Amino acid sequence: MRVFAHRGASKEAPENTLQAFELAVKAGVHGIEFDARQVDNDIVIIHDRRLDRTTNGVGLVQDKTLAYIRTLDAGNQQPIPLLQEVLSVAPPGMLCNIEIKHLDSVERWLAAFDTACIESGKAVDEIIISSFNHHWLWAIKQLRPTLNIALLTASFDVNALSFAEPFTPWSINIALDVAEQTYIEEIKAKGYKAYVYTVDHPLDMQLLKKWGADGIFTNRPALALATLG
Ligand code: G3P
Ligand code: MG
Repeated sequence: MRVFAHRGASKEAPENTLQAFELAVKAGVHGIEFDARQVDNDIVIIHDRRLDRTTNGVGLVQDKTLAYIRTLDAGNQQPIPLLQEVLSVAPPGMLCNIEIKHLDSVERWLAAFDTACIESGKAVDEIIISSFNHHWLWAIKQLRPTLNIALLTASFDVNALSFAEPFTPWSINIALDVAEQTYIEEIKAKGYKAYVYTVDHPLDMQLLKKWGADGIFTNRPALALATLG
């Protein structure tokens, strides 16, 4: 079962900072997950809509200029990183899950994504693009059918996986609250991978492994790797 560091090793270092991602890489994770917001023609890595919780700034990320955002402290005197900086931390073979929290324009987002891949040297097939906003993912899929898409969901719908079929997604990433063996089996029977977020307790990790989950997102990657062997 694969272990993705959720916002980096975010129990040990400030979430979504290069420090958190470097610690995750050092722990030997299979992948890192991070939250992306488009600001003009760039992509910055921060979870919340607002700057207040995780930085010394205030207000909405999308109202700010990149220059201002880059002056802020995201904890331990770490800046809010750019997409290319985070992709650069992941060595070859390590997967990167970009979770899109906000985008202004799919075309400009893809242009920024391309630039980040070139600047970091990260192989595109080692990148997975996820979001709760399936409209954005659908638009990306139309323009770039070969990109790896992961559909995020926090529900187990009556019509189960009908929402996923047009995408032929790389994975379905489901909330721990709705994870159950039948759901995981249904996802895998369709030929998709089943990932679960956010899993920090060893007993949950072991149960999901037993149920056949392909991977988890965890704030405690070192613990997960030790627990899962
Ligand atoms: O990508 C999985 C997980 O990160 C989704 O929820 O709010 O932690 O970004 P959130
Ligand atoms: Mg996320």
